[in-house]
Formats: sequence, C-alpha cells, structure tokens
Amino acid sequence: MNIDLVAGARPNFMKLAPVERAIRNLGTINVRIIHTGQHYDPEMNEVFFSELGIPNPDAHLGAGSGTHGAQTARILESYERLLLEDRPDATVVFGDVNSTIACALAAVKLGVRVVHVEAGLRSFDRSMPEEINRVLTDAIADCLLVSEPSGVDNLIREGIPAEKIHLVGNVMIDTLIQELNRSRALDYPAKLGLSHGEYGLVTLHRPANVDDPVVLKRLVELFVELAAHLPLVFPIHPRTQTALKRANLLNQLQESGRILCLSPISYRENLALMEACRVVLTDSGGMQEETAILNIPCLTMRPNTERPITVSRGTSRLVGNDAEQIRVAFTDVIAGRWAVAQPLPLWDGHAGVRVACVIEHFLHGLH
Ligand code: UD1
Repeated sequence: MNIDLVAGARPNFMKLAPVERAIRNLGTINVRIIHTGQHYDPEMNEVFFSELGIPNPDAHLGAGSGTHGAQTARILESYERLLLEDRPDATVVFGDVNSTIACALAAVKLGVRVVHVEAGLRSFDRSMPEEINRVLTDAIADCLLVSEPSGVDNLIREGIPAEKIHLVGNVMIDTLIQELNRSRALDYPAKLGLSHGEYGLVTLHRPANVDDPVVLKRLVELFVELAAHLPLVFPIHPRTQTALKRANLLNQLQESGRILCLSPISYRENLALMEACRVVLTDSGGMQEETAILNIPCLTMRPNTERPITVSRGTSRLVGNDAEQIRVAFTDVIAGRWAVAQPLPLWDGHAGVRVACVIEHFLHGLH
C-alpha cells in the first residue's frame, strides 16, 4: 500500500510529523513525502523538518509564493504531473492551506483517494482563504479525520456520510507533548532576557490583520501601549515583515524599547516562549490550540474561529483587531480574570496513532 503525505506551509509540518511516524511504525504502508514548496525560507521550513524528525521530502514541487490562483495552480499542475508518473493509493493532506486544496484536487481528478487530516473545521467566514480551502477539500475527500466535535457536526450538516468521518483528536498536540521537554531544555526565554510569566508573546500574519496599513498601524500602536505594562516578544512572519516595512511601522515597534522583534523562530523556540509567557496575542489557529493545552491565556485577534473548542474549553477569547476589546481582555489577564483550560478529549498525544490506524483500515477497504 502506498500513500503520499503532502505538506507545504509551516503549520502543516507539526501535523505531518506524528502521522508520518505512526504510519512508519505500522510497517505496512509505503510513504512518499511531498513538499509543495509553498513555504521555502529555511526558517519557515527546514528547521521544522530537522527539529521534528521528519524525513527529507521524496519530491519537492517548488511552488513558491504568488497570488492564490497562481500558487494553487502551480501546485496543482506539478502534483498532477507527479501522480501521472507514479500514483499512490491515497493522498493525505493536512489543514487548510493552498497546498491542501491544490493536491486534494489533483488527486481526486485522477481517481486517487483523498484523506484530509483536520477536516470539518469551519469559521463560517468565506472571506478567509483557508475557509474556502477547508470547504472544498472536505467536499472531495474520501476519508475525513477530525480534531474536535464541532468538525463532525459541520460535516454531517454538509451532507458528508457519517462512515467517512472519524473523530481522531488533534495531531498537533502529539507534537507539542513530544517536544515540550526538549523545548524547555533550550532555556530560550532566559536567553532572550525574558523572565517566566513576565512577558507577552505576539504573532500576527492573517491578511485581515496585516495587509491593510490602517489596521496594522492601529495594532502596532496598541502593542506599543500594552508593552508599557508588560514587555512583548514578537517573532515576525515574512508576510508581516513585508507589510510592516511597507507601512514604515517596523521602527515604531523597535523604538518602543519594550518589544523584542525576532525573525521567524523554530517550533521548539516558539513552544518555549508560549509555555513561559503571561499571555499570547495571536491570529494563529495552531496557537489557539496550543495555549489551550498549556493553559496560557490567548487573545485571539480574529472575529471568529474554526476551532470553537479553544473558546468553550480552552483559554482563547476572540478579540478581533479592535483596540478596545484587546485592551479590555489584556487588562483581564493582568488582573487574573481568565478561564482555566478544561480537559480536551482526544488531545492526548496519541492522535497520530489513531490517524494511522484509520488510514490503514481505509486502504484495506480499497484492495
Ligand atoms: C499561509 C497559509 C495560512 C497559514 C500560514 C502560516 C494559505 C492560503 N495561507 O499563509 O493559512 O496560517 O501560511 O504561515 O495557504 N513568504 C516568505 N517566505 C516563505 C513563505 C512566504 O517570505 O517561506 C512571504 C512571501 O512574501 C509570500 C507571503 O509570505 O508572498 C505569504 O506567503 P503565503 O504562503 O502565500 O501565505 P502565508 O501568509 O504564509
């Protein structure tokens, strides 16, 4: 039995790692790792492969950046070419990035079965490119692996047959649990001069927050204001770096003297910063989930979330990009007025093994 595991952008790598390992341990399935090249800078890419022990990709599609149409089309075309040469029994795609829909589409058109890991999540906000990618990928997937109960409800409502849907838990939390000790051993916050519980961690990369210079300026001014109460550390995504430079805002952050601006950091470095901080301010989907497990207050700078369990049982509060809402939530954190995380079913470090078992069973059904 042969499968392709597809990864392209940073958030895919921590999801692929535990699945690849669990499938390798089964010893019954040949795996080909396909890297689409959506993310290509070493700091967005190679560093995750080496830290997370992911084998080198068997194929690299070299897609690179571009408009959504151009990037998706390049991946679609080059993955199709690969499939025409050598066709696996199934293609496994992760998450909601452009690489996810592009490879799912190339596969399904050639009669290759599609497995979607992290299926069913819905923000119900179609202005987000990821929401389109999720809805379309789920519509053509043959086997849908879901991380939280809301995902099952969404898929059933969209008419996906129940027998295709499997609630397996959150594979990204497998990676978190595996890497926690190694990340602690780095002593990374101390190396940056940060004390435990005495700083906030900021990340920002969603187009809705960074592409509009007016919104970005408002957020930068707010970060400077909040940093007067609690120093902030801000690893800056390449998209955000470009937007900050374009809007002449990078200096303002740096000159505050209370905001430590970093280039993109590794998985373990980010985990170390997250675990030891007082509060996270982010628009990342993954960090909403990780803070829920670490029990760190998370101000989610989005108007909605496709991961509602992080609000109902985790530590996330939706604050959008509205300065007053963020200010109020930040004050609540500092005053200790914040919900404590509840246990999250199936976010237990074993989701990768469950995914591997479902995939093995699914492939048996094909032969
Ligand atoms: C993509 C995903 C998003 C995910 C994010 C995590 C889509 C639609 N979006 O957004 O869901 O949360 O990855 O990082 O798939 N760039 C570099 N170096 C790189 C990669 C990108 O400099 O290695 C810059 C380029 O200027 C590029 C821009 O970042 O144009 C955006 O990259 P892109 O892959 O299009 O989207 P992300 O914003 O990274």
